[in-house]
Amino acid sequence: MLQAPNDHSLLNDAPMAKPGENRQCNEAYPVDTSTELRALFDLYATTGNSIEVSFRKMVPWLKVGERATHYLHPYPAKLLPHIAHFFLASEALCSNEGTVLDPFGGTGTVALETVLSGRIAAYSDTNPLARAIAKTKVTPIDIEIIQPKIEALHTRFLRSRSKNPPNVINIRKWYSDSIISQLSRLKAAIEGELDDDYRHFFLISFSATARKVSIADPRLSVPVQQEFSPTELKEKEKVWARFSEQLSNNISRAKNFKNLLSSSPHIIDAGVDARSILRELGGHLDENSVELIITSPPYAGAQKYIRASSLSLGWLGFAGEGELKPLENKTIGREHLLKSVVDSAVKTSVPEANEVISRIRKINPARAAICAVYLNEMEASIIQMTRVLKAGGYAVIVIGNNHVCGEAFLSSEYISSIFNSLGLRTKLKLIDEIKSRGLMTKRNKTASMITREWVLVFQKSFN
Ligand SMILES: C[S@@+](CC[C@H](N)C(=O)[O-])C[C@H]1O[C@@H](n2cnc3c(N)ncnc32)[C@H](O)[C@@H]1O
Repeated sequence: MLQAPNDHSLLNDAPMAKPGENRQCNEAYPVDTSTELRALFDLYATTGNSIEVSFRKMVPWLKVGERATHYLHPYPAKLLPHIAHFFLASEALCSNEGTVLDPFGGTGTVALETVLSGRIAAYSDTNPLARAIAKTKVTPIDIEIIQPKIEALHTRFLRSRSKNPPNVINIRKWYSDSIISQLSRLKAAIEGELDDDYRHFFLISFSATARKVSIADPRLSVPVQQEFSPTELKEKEKVWARFSEQLSNNISRAKNFKNLLSSSPHIIDAGVDARSILRELGGHLDENSVELIITSPPYAGAQKYIRASSLSLGWLGFAGEGELKPLENKTIGREHLLKSVVDSAVKTSVPEANEVISRIRKINPARAAICAVYLNEMEASIIQMTRVLKAGGYAVIVIGNNHVCGEAFLSSEYISSIFNSLGLRTKLKLIDEIKSRGLMTKRNKTASMITREWVLVFQKSFN
């Protein structure tokens, strides 16, 4: 059963680790968190109760807002960098040279914090937009040579006669003809940049701009049309100006990233599916090769990563009209299932989850199937995480619970059961308040807003 959170606010007053204690500190990681981490582990070992914390307060030296390249491009349900930072700012869970895997890597929040900590980052995600953002975030670029490249890009943009926009779903619903034409010319101009790293940097800034100049509501993750004033619409028409603003902000971020970096980033591209974690040279990532996993998996039935990314996926040429569905089908937590799957009354390996799912089935069989398929697919990914984790290695899972058809669907509990059944022991359960992970649309009436996140730490046994 889920334990009622006790008031352990004393932890926020626990003696703060001093700069330079234990771990080799650098500018990106100025404080060692080992003392606080140990205090939390000890408290959980003594009480067995979930502990309420605030990661923002536990990592006060990390300001909410800009840090390195974390905010290069928007994306739904990004992980709070403080959470990754807190666990990486100590050698308690991972040595300074260890590999840290994020199988649901999204835009690379964990990968970025990992390389800033000087360790090796392994990363996978199904969404090609997320992978492109993550790659750009962890690739340092030389700011000194970007200015002439921008000037050349501007000249190519002004001269471009490119007329054919890429395959962007419902393109005319989101843009005026003039904006479509300007974006198409800008995309063609960026393609003329021959250096991969700079081209990708420009493309990510372009993708963020393409969303901003659309008439999609910026407060919602999935595109939903919004009314804009004539002045606002006029501003959107100035595509190069909007792109320049985005680029200039991203250049500041890239500068900050380079300043914080103490060694060359080492990244392992672990593929596109958390249920099949790969190594770059082919084959699966080796057993016992990862010291630490930090990941925030999708939630059950509340994810719209592909729909949320649809404009960017089209503009960047990853997936257009007719090509989004196959991508969505690979996404865990998706909302659309075949009727035959719904009809088959899918069961999971977690008895408590099956009880809740059978109650949901009486109200809405499709929602019940979404929950069951979600948990089974999460189990497949947990089996992979367990396989690649070293003996004694840790997995930090950030997950939320939600309500489905009025029933509490306690993903944190079911996921804990799955880890435990695979032989990993629960070492810590933390609860962090979150405002909103921006997952929902106004139209989603069946799911409630998620306001708390569980941060669960499991350890693989030594034998
Ligand atoms: C909560 S988000 C992770 C956000 C990330 N921590 C960040 O800060 O950007 C969950 C991610 O899981 C990805 N995902 C869903 N199904 C997946 C699968 N089968 N394999 C790998 N990634 C998957 C989604 O595309 C999404 O990017």
